[in-house]
Amino acid sequence: MTVSAFGPGRVNLIGEHTDYNGGLALPFAIAEGVTVTATPLDGTDIVAIAHDAGGEEDRFALAAPPRDGEGWRAFVRGMVAELTTAGHDLRPVRLEIRGTIAQGSGLSSSAALEVALALALLGTDPPAADRPALARLCSRVENDWVGARTGLLDQTASLLGEPGTALRIDFQTMEVTPIALDLQGWQLVTVDSGQSHSLSAADGYNERRAECAEACRVLDIETVSQAGLREAQDLQEPLRRRVLHVLDENARVDATVQALERHEIRDVGRLLDASHASLRDLYDSSTPQVEQTVQRLKDQGAAGARMVGGGFGGHVLALFPPGTPLPDDAHTVEPGPGAHLKD
Ligand code: GLA
Repeated sequence: MTVSAFGPGRVNLIGEHTDYNGGLALPFAIAEGVTVTATPLDGTDIVAIAHDAGGEEDRFALAAPPRDGEGWRAFVRGMVAELTTAGHDLRPVRLEIRGTIAQGSGLSSSAALEVALALALLGTDPPAADRPALARLCSRVENDWVGARTGLLDQTASLLGEPGTALRIDFQTMEVTPIALDLQGWQLVTVDSGQSHSLSAADGYNERRAECAEACRVLDIETVSQAGLREAQDLQEPLRRRVLHVLDENARVDATVQALERHEIRDVGRLLDASHASLRDLYDSSTPQVEQTVQRLKDQGAAGARMVGGGFGGHVLALFPPGTPLPDDAHTVEPGPGAHLKD
C-alpha cells in the first residue's frame, strides 16, 4: 500500500541555541514542510527521488545503506540505517520527496525531511508516547549521517506540534508543555533575508557548539544552562558572551510564556528584539543581510523581529500589531499539526 507522510518545518518563537545547552525553547510546527510518499517495490532496494533537486535519484540496498551519501541522500540512507538499527523491519520502497521549505531557510527543512522519511518508511502515525524517541532517532541521522551537530529542537517541534499551540521544551528534562499561542489579532510572519545558511561543519554553528562544550569543561558542568551568572562573568571571551546569551535566552523563554498567558503581546515583541540583540552581540550569529532585514521590518512597523533557527542567514521572524499592513514579502505563520500520515 502507498503511504504519504508529512513532516512540518518549525518556527522557534524564542529560545535560540539553547537546545544543545540544556535550556528552554518555544517552537511550533508550521504548515510548510516535506511530504514523502512510499510505494512498495519488489526486490531488495530502496529507491528515492528528490523532486526539489531536479528529480535526482538514489538507489541502495535496504540491508546496507552506504555511508558516503552527500546532501539529501545522506538523510535517506541514514534514516533507513537508524530505523533498522532500532529494530524496525523496513520493506523495499520507492520514496518520492517533495518539500515546500527552501533549504537553509532557518525553518528546519532538515527536520521536516527526517520526520517525513521516518513516518513514510514506518508506514504509521506513531503514537504520542513514541514520538520523543523518534525525535532522538531523527537527530542521530542529522548528527551522524549528515554531519550537522544540531540539537533536538527541530525534530521535537515537527513531531509533537499541535495547532494553536507553541511547545515549551525544557531540554534538561525533555519535558514538553503546550502553551496556547493566542496573539489577540497580532501576526507572526517570516521574511527571507536572502542569505542561505548551512549547519554543517564549515559554518559557525558547529563552532558555537564547540565553544559551549569548552565552557562546560572549564566550569565543570554538564550543560551551559547550569552555569551560575558570577562564574559565567569570569570566563574568557568569547566563552563569557556565549554562556551569558544562553542564560538570558532561557529567562526570555519563560518571560515570553508569561507575556502570552497575560495576553501582553507587545511584551512578546520586546522579548523578540532582546533575543535578536543577544544572538547578534553575544552569540555572534548574525550577518549584515540579516541585520538589514530586521531593520527593514522594524521600520515597517514590526513590534519585534529576530533571526530564527541556527542564524548566519536564513529567515527573520517578526511580530506585527493588529491593523499594520504586512510587508509584501512577509509570510504569515501559525502553529499547525505535528507530523502525520496524509489521506
Ligand atoms: C538549528 C538546529 C537546532 C537549534 C537551532 C538554534 O535549527 O537544528 O537544533 O540548535 O539551530 O536554536
